[in-house]
Amino acid sequence: MSFNLSEEGIKKVKQELSRYETKESAIIPSLYVAQKENNGWVNNDVIHALSKVMDIPASKINEVFKFYTMFNQKKVGKFHVQVCTNISCALNGSRELASHICRELKTKFDEVTPDGRFTVSKVECLGSCGTAPMMQVNDKYYENLTHESAMNLLRGMK
Ligand code: FES
Repeated sequence: MSFNLSEEGIKKVKQELSRYETKESAIIPSLYVAQKENNGWVNNDVIHALSKVMDIPASKINEVFKFYTMFNQKKVGKFHVQVCTNISCALNGSRELASHICRELKTKFDEVTPDGRFTVSKVECLGSCGTAPMMQVNDKYYENLTHESAMNLLRGMK
């Protein structure tokens, strides 16, 4: 299935291109734009669409895409639940929290739930260590979580 950026997406990518001295510097913000438009993940079609708009070889965009873990290489659910399992969060129970969320949602890490709503992933530090344990769902942070508060939040997401 082919992918094309929306007019709005093209505008955003061109804006990013105009902000930097080299086009390559705009790859990361442009990948964010494209990932969002492709329902949260990036594939070859997305890379090629960006390559055309940015006039940068697809191989260069691909290198950046493969290097950074915030770009998803496979489909994710409508809500991508990223539980930080780095040191502060781990010390405050985030690994157990991540497993609890998976159990409650009857899914495995990095898989999409059958209803298409959730993907649960363990991620490295999200820079909110003082409010551990925490998770990011799509663009939003949820902090000082307990098993109950996390599940209440997730159950409320439609
Ligand atoms: S260790 Fe979890 S946000 Fe930094």
